[in-house]
Amino acid sequence: MSKTATLNITGQEPLELPVMEGTLGPDVIDIRTIYAKTGAFTFDPGFTSTSACESKITFIDGGKGQLYYRGYPIEQLAEHSDYLETCYLLLYGELPNKEQKAAFEQDITYHTLVHDQLARFFNGFRRDAHPMAMMVGVVGALSAFYQDSLEITNPEHRRLAENRLISKIPTLAAMCFRYSRGLPFVYPRNDLSYTENFMYMMFSTPCEEYKPNPVLVRALDRIFILHADHEQNASTSTVRLAGSSGANPFACIAAGIACLWGPAHGGANEAVLKMLDEIGDVSRVPEFMEGVKAKKYRLMGFGHRVYKNMDPRAKIMKQTCDEVLNELGLQDSPKFKLAMALEQIALNDPYFIEKKLYPNVDFYSGIVLSALGIPVSMFTVIFALARTVGWISHWHEMIAEPTQKIGRPRQLYTGATRRDYVPVEQR
Ligand code: CMC
Repeated sequence: MSKTATLNITGQEPLELPVMEGTLGPDVIDIRTIYAKTGAFTFDPGFTSTSACESKITFIDGGKGQLYYRGYPIEQLAEHSDYLETCYLLLYGELPNKEQKAAFEQDITYHTLVHDQLARFFNGFRRDAHPMAMMVGVVGALSAFYQDSLEITNPEHRRLAENRLISKIPTLAAMCFRYSRGLPFVYPRNDLSYTENFMYMMFSTPCEEYKPNPVLVRALDRIFILHADHEQNASTSTVRLAGSSGANPFACIAAGIACLWGPAHGGANEAVLKMLDEIGDVSRVPEFMEGVKAKKYRLMGFGHRVYKNMDPRAKIMKQTCDEVLNELGLQDSPKFKLAMALEQIALNDPYFIEKKLYPNVDFYSGIVLSALGIPVSMFTVIFALARTVGWISHWHEMIAEPTQKIGRPRQLYTGATRRDYVPVEQR
């Protein structure tokens, strides 16, 4: 027997609502008919109880600390897969066979160059502009350069735009970094892997050959895998909402980047490093914690809307953090020791235990990125680079859905009731 839920509104007949069941996760009450049948809206600011769409891409069980991409646990992908293979999985739903993997890698590799005129956009930015400010601008500008992939109803255009975004994002991200440092842009190299190539475009100079260190390449590739998707988070929902109006994919991804920039979302690992700098020394941790508990500020890199248990990505990132610090001989660095002291105190403090606040992926990813030589201002750009495939996969899923409609939430209006205009002399 299929499940139903009954809604009783005072003075109205009870309304029976269907209950939908997913393959995993909680049941979902289908409330689509509520307004038509009762004249009432539902109220859920922050979408804490609302499924905005149906999706087959990523599953999270926040209580159990589980994260699956297309059914595969994140731990297995981080251990055995690589970022481009994970991109294929997210986009197409299955792991590629050997030929599909090689063809996809070739396709992505041969789209990494950006139109040379795009480089001139950078000259319009101040050198001290935040790299995310440049990213929002240049990614949006891609739609002005690649007009042969803007027809969203054409599957071939969609595939081309998707591949272009995945391939060009690292090139643009590296250009943002190079511009802010006053360094010449570096063209991509087709003989390098996706992640090696990104590190090469970031760190090579015309004066010296750059050889990517395999331990560091693996660490960055893992950061990319861990950040590749996270179901209907704020930036992904932004991409879906922007895309629901029929906007082109480059514009939608630029909207996602804008949303990701905020400190409660992608800006958190940047905020973790800033917080560590502000605390400065292990001796100041107790005083800092008092301020957190008095709600003067938050412990950045802790807490999550969905995970009320350890974020599974944080466990993998912590291990990667150890590997990178050992490789670079940084395990005794004061910043790392400070971070570990903070983590231990928070994990044992009743304030954090009662509120189920655990370290999230950003607590450790900031430390790893910093050890890799990536400046703090680039952290959210790295997140955007990795998340582009997640955004695209959701955009693709939504556009391919025949019943797709423009997203249009309603509201509980609490403003002024009707009143008449008063001329300025009488106010
Ligand atoms: N430090 C101290 N207290 C906190 C923290 C924190 N980091 N996070 C939540 N709380 C407290 C909060 O004050 C509230 O207390 P009370 O119930 O007494 O009012 C309670 O915990 C619940 O907080 P909330 O803001 O209602 O929870 P939320 O689910 O809306 O917020 C969050 C989730 C991630 C925005 C929040 O935990 C936070 O601001 N964390 C710090 C920023 C951060 O690390 N963000 C990265 C998130 S992971 C990256 C990603 O997936 O995008």
